[in-house]
Amino acid sequence: MSYIKEISLKESRLCFELDSKSIALWSKNQWDSEFSKKEVKGLAIFYLKEIIGVCVFQVVIDEAQINYFAISHRFLRKGFGSRLLNSVIKKCKELNLKKLSLEVSEKNKAANAFYDCFNFKTVGKRKKYYNNEDDALLKEKILKK
Ligand SMILES: CC(C)(COP(=O)(O)OP(=O)(O)OC[C@H]1O[C@@H](n2cnc3c(N)ncnc32)[C@H](O)[C@@H]1OP(=O)(O)O)[C@@H](O)C(=O)NCCC(=O)NCCS
Repeated sequence: MSYIKEISLKESRLCFELDSKSIALWSKNQWDSEFSKKEVKGLAIFYLKEIIGVCVFQVVIDEAQINYFAISHRFLRKGFGSRLLNSVIKKCKELNLKKLSLEVSEKNKAANAFYDCFNFKTVGKRKKYYNNEDDALLKEKILKK
């Protein structure tokens, strides 16, 4: 009933629609431009035919950085985020990447608890990183085979 698949520019509108109802991070143009970068990869989780979660990550040499991760509001806390992140980790290992990193607001308790479950470690802090002046935590996970 639910499945994960790679997504690309042709799913940009679906990603924008999910994002608009979630954290509203990017405009449609920003989604298009993100998927146009050759080093950017996307994985999405679908329930029936609906896209319910998206991860966009960017490969830089032997590391990857998560640029976007969200699960649709109606499907939170049902394990879909964990399934999607496990797939991202698996994909990164297949690509022989050594590290997965991301930035998350210090105030985003749900996301911090979520990444803790996956053993992401906080390795830095960017003061007043967001428009609302919240601090960003820089987190990373070392990938072992
Ligand atoms: C963070 C997010 C992706 C988690 O997705 P999810 O599908 O709800 O996560 P899961 O159901 O797989 O949860 C796995 C574990 O993470 C932790 N967790 C997830 N949401 C939590 C919350 N609101 N409060 C506390 N812990 C939480 C729990 O330990 C949970 O395990 P449990 O349900 O057995 O207690 C989701 O909350 C989301 O999309 N948030 C908005 C976007 C966002 O903040 N993205 C991150 C920006 S970097």
